[in-house]
Amino acid sequence: MSTFQAPKGTYDLTPPRSATFLAVREAISAPLRDSGYGYIETPGFENVELFARGVGESTDIVTKEMYTLTTKGGDQLALRPEGTASVLRAALEANLHKAGNLPVKLWYSGSYYRYERPQAGRYRHFSQVGAEAIGTEDPALDAELIILADQAYRALGLRQFRILLNSLGDKECRPVYREALQTFLRDLDLDEETRRRIEINPLRVLDDKRADVQKQLTDAPKLRDYLCDACKAYHEEVRALLTAAGVAFEDDEKLVRGLDYYTRTTFEFVHDGLGSQSAVGGGGRYDGLSEMIGGPELPSVGWALGVDRTVLALEAEGVELDLPATTSVYAVPLGEEARRVLFGVVTELRRAGIAADFAFGGRGLKGAMKSANRSGARYTLVAGERDLAEGVVQLKDMESGEQTAVPLTEAAAELAKRLG
Ligand code: HAM
Repeated sequence: MSTFQAPKGTYDLTPPRSATFLAVREAISAPLRDSGYGYIETPGFENVELFARGVGESTDIVTKEMYTLTTKGGDQLALRPEGTASVLRAALEANLHKAGNLPVKLWYSGSYYRYERPQAGRYRHFSQVGAEAIGTEDPALDAELIILADQAYRALGLRQFRILLNSLGDKECRPVYREALQTFLRDLDLDEETRRRIEINPLRVLDDKRADVQKQLTDAPKLRDYLCDACKAYHEEVRALLTAAGVAFEDDEKLVRGLDYYTRTTFEFVHDGLGSQSAVGGGGRYDGLSEMIGGPELPSVGWALGVDRTVLALEAEGVELDLPATTSVYAVPLGEEARRVLFGVVTELRRAGIAADFAFGGRGLKGAMKSANRSGARYTLVAGERDLAEGVVQLKDMESGEQTAVPLTEAAAELAKRLG
């Protein structure tokens, strides 16, 4: 233990658990890479205004949870609380939308920061893999993204997740609903803060977790009844495409997301083994975001899946990922001369693409064999002075326990052959 600890609400990823995180990122991104999504990376911080305008001045994320700072040069920056605004900003800046190839399909993976009250599954530093399809209004694109997330989770072996689906309407019908909802909410018995919320973001009131609030919301006007014909038709098409693809979902009229940029399709992936932080991923359409940050009209859709919560979901379901052993061969030298010779063999193996490791530090046979076992290596190479005098090394198959003497000059080739 050093004098320091990881900051509150954060944790370190260390082996062996860290391997699961890498595998999860890989599994989530694989279907995207196979579906025309290109990799994008943006800075960990942005101009604070980007998130204020993009994510929304009335959201908890912007008002309470952003890590903001003023640089020595006087710039107001924020550690990114999410990826969508940054990715869209970057795509616009690079003029990706002007290449005549819409939608611009992008995927990303990285760290995000929210100053939230830490609890199981909720951290101040967390990681997401996300996807954004920019510049096209097509229900098949919304469906594609949901299907790819479903495919990623199934490939990981997750089963106890559900997909919640809703439509939030567009700039035609949502304002009408918003007003009707406000009129209804203003008559309720609510605290000051919630009253303020009615005026700036009434849909968020529907999301209030308190039972006494929920009780009063039973007769609240339903967005479904206010959707315009175009939004209704769009939503029906998304639903039909998901059904045709065999992806099960639940219609959830109460699904309002914590970010302001959503229009039409919104969805969340929830896992039933996670307690209160059950959302493992979420996303939706954000047709107006580009204009909100000063760009042209570019209807878009995307999602982000939380890597931390996906790992917790795997653990909750008891899914053990089939992680390939990182080391195939472990070399154990006994003595100075053997150290030099086997280190050379290990280098040769690595150059031939075989994962190999070495007992460093001149430890005895027992300790070194323990490390060999722990490494998960399929084979060990052991050599002492007598072996070297005979020009051989001992090759041990760690599964069968069988040990054979192999000519030193052929050791690498023999291992390459055995490992296929
Ligand atoms: P979000 O729902 O805020 O959406 O976050 C997506 C996922 O990130 C959550 O479902 C959760 O798994 C994970 N996450 C969020 N906050 C935390 C936290 N404090 N600790 C651990 N995990 C967390 C977005 O971020 C949108 N940008 C998604 C999107 C992309 N919409 C359109 N395109």
